[in-house]
Amino acid sequence: MRSRLFYHSLFLHISLVPIILLFLATAVAGDDDDDEGGSGTKITAAFTEPATGIPMQRFFGAKSGFGFAMALPDTAAAGNASSSFIGQLTFPLVNGAGWGGWSLTGDMEGPLLMAAWANAAGTGVVSSFRQARNEDDNPPEVTGTFVARPIADGTAVNASFLTYTFLCEGCLGAGLGLDAAAATATVEMGWALGSKAVGNPGSPAAVLNFHDVGFGGFQAQLGLAKVPQADFDRVAALAGAPVQPAAGAVPFNSAAGGDGGGDDSDDEEEDDDDD
Ligand code: HEM
Repeated sequence: MRSRLFYHSLFLHISLVPIILLFLATAVAGDDDDDEGGSGTKITAAFTEPATGIPMQRFFGAKSGFGFAMALPDTAAAGNASSSFIGQLTFPLVNGAGWGGWSLTGDMEGPLLMAAWANAAGTGVVSSFRQARNEDDNPPEVTGTFVARPIADGTAVNASFLTYTFLCEGCLGAGLGLDAAAATATVEMGWALGSKAVGNPGSPAAVLNFHDVGFGGFQAQLGLAKVPQADFDRVAALAGAPVQPAAGAVPFNSAAGGDGGGDDSDDEEEDDDDD
């Protein structure tokens, strides 16, 4: 016959099971947060781009599945900050539909934005630069001294996922929202992900719907995103021809694009955490 002590300890163990399960569930739920830093701050982390092997800093939202990574050439020693970077957008699609994008600041209105989505046939990626004047309308396509040159080796799309790797030439500048000189520190950038089909997907002027999956700011550790110039050049050399804007694209308005541009007076607290 078993002792009372045995049953007592058995009871204790069984009664601990729900507590242990609760603890495990909480730990898993904690992971399901777009919080790489683990301290309530959305921050980029080291990431090696699989197709090219280039080390990058990547913001990744575990809930949304959205990722945006960057690598910059380490030219600071020469006092010659680069206005170009290698970027990679990765995000889920819903039956081929949806779009993802980044902002050079934590805001939507004012800074240089880029959005990408699958073309009409679902066989390639279309990207375009945008500048939002408000939060109500589809941000118009803009042109300027910046260009995106796709890196085919790191670009792929299917019905459920899009990967777009590109050389962003001339994409950093004071009037654009993030100056090349400031890209040596940790800066706030923004991201957005929508799941609805864009209007007229074959055109870079496609109409984007609201980013219903998530959006917000994140801390980009650009000081850690620097790679030796030779590594940068090796990957930049893989880039193809610049993406051509659609006929109706308008010039980027640098007066609205730099620091202090755009209306951020009422939206500081509105960053949505539904990422
Ligand atoms: C590349 C495209 C886009 C990017 C990168 C982007 C990014 C962002 C970011 C970072 C925010 C939060 C900061 C802020 O309030 O300024 C935001 C807010 C907002 N965006 Fe966008 N966005 C894009 C396109 C769009 C489009 C196409 C729409 C709708 C047609 C839209 C509607 C809004 C609205 C309504 C808010 C404010 C929501 C709130 O404060 O609760 N955005 N966006």
